[in-house]
Amino acid sequence: MNRWISPELFAAFEAGETTAHRLFTGPNVWVERLGRDVLISFKTDAARDAALSELRQWEASAGFQSARVFSRFLPKQNAERVAPVLIEGDAEAALHAVVTERGVRYGIDFGAGYSAGLFLDQRANRAFVRQRAPKRLLNTFAYTCSFSVVAALAGAQTVSVDLSKKSLDRGRENFALNNLPLEGHRFLADDVLDVLPRLERRGEKFDVIILDPPTFSRGNRGRRWQVEEQIEDLLRAALELAEPGAAILISTNCTKLDRRALEQAARFALKTARRGGDFHTEPPLPDFPPGEGAQTLWLHLR
Ligand SMILES: C[S@@+](CC[C@H](N)C(=O)[O-])C[C@H]1O[C@@H](n2cnc3c(N)ncnc32)[C@H](O)[C@@H]1O
Repeated sequence: MNRWISPELFAAFEAGETTAHRLFTGPNVWVERLGRDVLISFKTDAARDAALSELRQWEASAGFQSARVFSRFLPKQNAERVAPVLIEGDAEAALHAVVTERGVRYGIDFGAGYSAGLFLDQRANRAFVRQRAPKRLLNTFAYTCSFSVVAALAGAQTVSVDLSKKSLDRGRENFALNNLPLEGHRFLADDVLDVLPRLERRGEKFDVIILDPPTFSRGNRGRRWQVEEQIEDLLRAALELAEPGAAILISTNCTKLDRRALEQAARFALKTARRGGDFHTEPPLPDFPPGEGAQTLWLHLR
């Protein structure tokens, strides 16, 4: 049971109003708690079955009882991704749920596809944005807009950009869940690579910019996005929109790009733009073993 979070850490999450966190990380499987539900993500059936039986032991030690258990297969190819499957609990219950992270509410939808709505490995970066209290946040590849929500709670105006209108609709729902009016917030269902030059032509500037792209995708007109080839171009475009003193989050799940590679790409982009900057990374999360989760880096412009 040594890869399960301790009952003490679980109690600390509860006390901190965080109901969305990892429970377990193994070589072929990880387990997340999402409110009253649990999601097992697995590469092999044996790893899923072992995690399910250990979950019961862990629940008894931590004093938690999950309402439902979902599982989802982790395929090698994105095209093979499917929505989670209910393996224990009430099949009639709604697939929607609400989780909290440091008291902030986010909607979860187990029926929405492969991802249920919140990337837990960005918890520290969301906390950093909230504490920094930006005036104007640009959230690219925004998905369900969790970064926009924390910025808005801190008083920011926000622009959220994502190809998926459905994800942005869920972003608006996340604003509503936190009683945030939509005034001062824009949701652009468009390709980031088309939106950034448009914002630049309009002279728009931001003091925090989130760059958390997928490894691979197809954008407008079938245009191919491949993070390791285009991260520098993305950074250059973002620099045109960044005020002096702005902070830019650079984040990726691409295994070919580690923190050093991200910093190198950022240094090249800075050089081209004739700007200077410093870097920091938030401390590791207590529920993620070293090397697990997205690689992330904050660039602080001078
Ligand atoms: C890894 S998720 C981003 C997660 C998000 N930053 C968060 O923390 O919740 C990637 C998102 O990028 C969007 N996306 C992919 N290619 C895009 C593009 N070219 N322009 C805009 N959005 C894109 C997808 O629809 C998806 O919602």
